[in-house]
Amino acid sequence: MHDFYSDTQTRPTRAMREAMLDAEVGDERHHDDPATNDLIARVAEMLGMEAAMFLPSGTMCNEVAIAVHCQPGDEVICTRESHIIFAESGGPAALSGVMLYPIDGEHGMMTPEEVSSAIRPPSAHAPRSRLLCTEQTSNLAGGAIWPADQLRAVADVAREAGLATHLDGARLLNASVATGVPAHEYAAGYDSAWIAFTKGLGCPVGAVLAGSQEFIDKAWLFKRRWGGAMRQTGVLAAMCSHALDHHVERLAEDHALARDIGDRLRDLPAVSDVMPVETNIVIAELSDAVPEARECARRMREDNVTCTVVGRKRIRMVTHMDVGQADADALISSIAKLA
Ligand SMILES: Cc1ncc(COP(=O)(O)O)c(C=O)c1O
Repeated sequence: MHDFYSDTQTRPTRAMREAMLDAEVGDERHHDDPATNDLIARVAEMLGMEAAMFLPSGTMCNEVAIAVHCQPGDEVICTRESHIIFAESGGPAALSGVMLYPIDGEHGMMTPEEVSSAIRPPSAHAPRSRLLCTEQTSNLAGGAIWPADQLRAVADVAREAGLATHLDGARLLNASVATGVPAHEYAAGYDSAWIAFTKGLGCPVGAVLAGSQEFIDKAWLFKRRWGGAMRQTGVLAAMCSHALDHHVERLAEDHALARDIGDRLRDLPAVSDVMPVETNIVIAELSDAVPEARECARRMREDNVTCTVVGRKRIRMVTHMDVGQADADALISSIAKLA
């Protein structure tokens, strides 16, 4: 299979599995698991935060953060393409009872002016604007990277108005590797931020959510309540630490492959447009010469090539540790055949 469905499709490497063997473990629920404690301290430092917690998934990081920052009836400002809107099963409404205020933005990003005009003046009639959520990189905008000063500027506007700020860092390290800007610079101005281990870093489980000690203390309530408090997580944390040691710099290879795919797609009659490729995500608009995206994806599967359908004529392809140049060649010839 030439699997461009997502960077979540990677299988743990042998070295990663071996890292589990020597993990020193205890009871994570009692803050007593040494390998997990090492990992969360390391991520807190990477993000410039005081404290952190290990969670099974990025979705749980977002949902726990929203629950800590908000009360039912509050409003969360984010872009229309945010993961919390399109892919968390209505979690913000179901779990925290909040409303979402989607901003159209551009390339998954908003300007300080857009955030400022989305913040409601205090009123008994309107919901309370309470939280700003941003996403680095922006998934449905083709892995676009927020410039650090813009990411900071929107946070500043929100904080000045008394809102909390949360950064979804599912692919924050892709941004750091692509630009050389350290993760803590992107997270500056945010009350909470997290990184994923199951995307480009190639782990099977895990994300680390970071913030102030007070934020993390409150977050533990939801971690326990929602069944995310675990036991000997050191075996998982050991994989994540291994990934931090060995799989971060190599994200540059994923970015180079994605750029190559984007360049080659632009020459195909089957494709009318490709979003600028900044990291490991390629989003292509299919031309009138081919059927709708769903049918194209079905035909591509016959060639053992997978992608994600993200619009009527739009497909997404993601590069990761388990695809290389030969897979890219198979992808291009499969898409070329569609027209
Ligand atoms: C931007 C973004 N946020 C959050 C998530 C959720 O992460 P998880 O799949 O670990 O729940 C994803 C997953 O792909 C994502 O792309």
